[in-house]
Amino acid sequence: MDGYSPSEAERELNARFRGRSGSGAHTPLMLDWWTYDFGYMWPITRGHFLVFLVFGAAAALCAWRGWPRWITGVTSVISVWGLLGALVMHYAIEINSPMTMPTERFLASGGANVVDLGAGSGRATLMVLMSRPRTVVTGLDRYTGFYGIVDNTPDRLRANARKAGVDDRLRVQVGDMRETPFTDGQFDGALSVAAMDHLRSEDIPRALTETARILKPGGEFLFVTINSDFWVKFAFPTAIHGHGYWGWKGNEALWRERMNAAGFDVLEVGAHPAEMFFLAKKRALPAGQS
Ligand SMILES: C[S@@+](CC[C@H](N)C(=O)[O-])C[C@H]1O[C@@H](n2cnc3c(N)ncnc32)[C@H](O)[C@@H]1O
Repeated sequence: MDGYSPSEAERELNARFRGRSGSGAHTPLMLDWWTYDFGYMWPITRGHFLVFLVFGAAAALCAWRGWPRWITGVTSVISVWGLLGALVMHYAIEINSPMTMPTERFLASGGANVVDLGAGSGRATLMVLMSRPRTVVTGLDRYTGFYGIVDNTPDRLRANARKAGVDDRLRVQVGDMRETPFTDGQFDGALSVAAMDHLRSEDIPRALTETARILKPGGEFLFVTINSDFWVKFAFPTAIHGHGYWGWKGNEALWRERMNAAGFDVLEVGAHPAEMFFLAKKRALPAGQS
């Protein structure tokens, strides 16, 4: 296209998104939690640390003033929980870092054309770009609505990729995973992390079928959904686990059934803190069909 510059087009898009997003509320990260800036909202990135500080100070005050021991005990326990919660969020759930690849089998051959559906600020995109140095990853996201990321823009994704030194292999595409702008069989691999599971349940089969369409036969799909496991229950003990937001996301049988119906064979299912992952392969087309 004459005069077309992807970065200019993205800048224009970003300018529109920035107007809508709460950039003023952006939260700085803590400890080395500042290397990347994935923009997750402060209650999940530093809320626990705040509890540690506030209740720790209260416990110290109680002890100093000689107030009843039980008050010192309760505030100390809450403070220690806050510290442990902050460590869980950072080191187990890795909310401020690129994700850890949950299975070495995904893109084991190394080089591939990959799409990240619902890339957001890039925790999963960076995981692939950093652990599979011959891949080119297209991060697709609609960049509207609030999914826990403050100021969720293509710019933020690019900035994180620049920090990791992998931006030369990143492409950004604004679009909807239920109806993507990609051609049939365009990608060797696809992933969707804490993104497809945010769709309304009636839209999920559509997004899975679309994923199968844009993958080559035999193409790999890594799907990661939020899982209400021990780590999540520890960090968020007051959430109503098994209901609402946490209700069906970690339902393995349901996801297997959906993937099967969309034309995938599930090869591996596993768990990482706060996550359940599925590695699947698009079925080869029956002989005679191209
Ligand atoms: C919780 S964030 C996860 C982002 C990233 N994958 C990660 O793990 O940090 C969910 C992302 O899905 C994107 N999303 C939700 N529905 C979408 C859709 N229909 N098409 C494309 N992206 C969508 C949101 O914009 C958001 O960036």
